[in-house]
Amino acid sequence: MPDCDLLIRNATVIDGTGAARQTAEVAIRGDRIAAVGKLGNASAAEEIDAAGLALAPGFIDTHAHDDLALLNTPLMEPKISQGVTCVINGNCGLSIAPLPTPKAPPAPLDLLSPDAADFFPSVAACFAAREARPAALNSAQLVGHTTLRLAHMDDLDRPASEREIAAMRASLETALQEGAIGLSTGTYYPPAAAAPTEEVIALAEALRCHGGIHATHMRDEADGVLDAIEETGRIGRAAGVPCVISHHKCNGLANHGRSVETLALIDRLAETQELGLDAYPYAASSTTLSIDKVKAASRTIVSWSRPHPEHAGRDLDDVAQEMGVSIEAAVAALSPAGGIFFSMAEEDVRRILAHERTMIGSDGLPADPHPHPRLWGAFARVLGHYARDEGLFSLEEAVRKMTALPAARYGLTGRGRVHEGYFADLVLFDPATIADAATYDAPAAPARGIEMVIVNGQPVWRDGAPTGRTPGRVLKNAATHAL
Ligand code: ZN
Ligand code: CU
Repeated sequence: MPDCDLLIRNATVIDGTGAARQTAEVAIRGDRIAAVGKLGNASAAEEIDAAGLALAPGFIDTHAHDDLALLNTPLMEPKISQGVTCVINGNCGLSIAPLPTPKAPPAPLDLLSPDAADFFPSVAACFAAREARPAALNSAQLVGHTTLRLAHMDDLDRPASEREIAAMRASLETALQEGAIGLSTGTYYPPAAAAPTEEVIALAEALRCHGGIHATHMRDEADGVLDAIEETGRIGRAAGVPCVISHHKCNGLANHGRSVETLALIDRLAETQELGLDAYPYAASSTTLSIDKVKAASRTIVSWSRPHPEHAGRDLDDVAQEMGVSIEAAVAALSPAGGIFFSMAEEDVRRILAHERTMIGSDGLPADPHPHPRLWGAFARVLGHYARDEGLFSLEEAVRKMTALPAARYGLTGRGRVHEGYFADLVLFDPATIADAATYDAPAAPARGIEMVIVNGQPVWRDGAPTGRTPGRVLKNAATHAL
């Protein structure tokens, strides 16, 4: 009888905590890491010689919109191909549950699916579907404020009434009891923009007794970004809950360089409350197409268009010229549509990525026909381009931002470290060659340098392809957010 199922020998272990790499052997038994160290005499059903390769905890995508992709494309290639073993869904106020009565999802909730029938009446029903048809990787779920508004309000262009807040709060509490890990808000977007801070605080209060977290696509990521961070801080303090600023950025030419101020403010707030942030490693954003976003950008690529699907992947300027109309008219003709907006400064992207509290989140949009390359490339780009090639931080620090840091922040117990007794979510990669291959022109390309990805002890990616296994689990609220 072998001691373990899989023994990885001679690996350069980067354990996720930020500690310096060490050569070690890692034994896996069942879904767990059985031992880490010098295991000379151990025997295994399978042995891998990992000389020259790095072994890290599987990456946690803190900012995902894979609510439906988990079910539609359970092999989850865009994510497992770059080493992601867990996605946190329901971000930006947008979740696929709970929606007790089907209603047409307004933009941007339709980024998940334009079809009301795809939404679930409860988080429990959504989790049951995921457990009946598991995916290759693990997932956790936030409850979207916009989804709650759609469920309990007739008119989204006004603040919720006391009664509506009570109904949303009851719905959120049920979802948290069913295993959702927190609340997400997207007050930037029209269906939630009319919500005052007090509405969000009233909901966030429900998180406190359930150990939930509040993640937010803030009201403003451009001229008013400092006010928006202050608002996020206020919500966290008033409700007594940890908050995460999603995909932190300083949008628009006038705000380039302001991450000096925003990060200083985040640091100041974080002295007295739990506050984190995530970011993706690109200077272009992507969301629904609108003229104000186009105006704040130096270039816009169309990522999808319902009336004109043939223009996905093309520059908006070229489309407008070909149509013989103004940019405004082209946006109107293409809408509803999505865009990729070159609206950030590289110096801000770097400063934010390098910040010690910053986690990595892809913000990938899996339903887009021509997605932003972050969907397939975010994690490999941080490891290859920013850590190795640009020397922005060490490989150990890059891995920490995608593993132990988010696991602690989101209460994913037993994940995020290469450590005895932890779940065997692991990625084996070549630190010399790891690189993102996805580009703005050709965004659907697996990362280079990923040798093997293991989820709950089972290989899901090997030899440049999915293995077809689907050992992913739904990770439910464990009510621990100690950092
Ligand atoms: Zn967002
Ligand atoms: Cu998002």
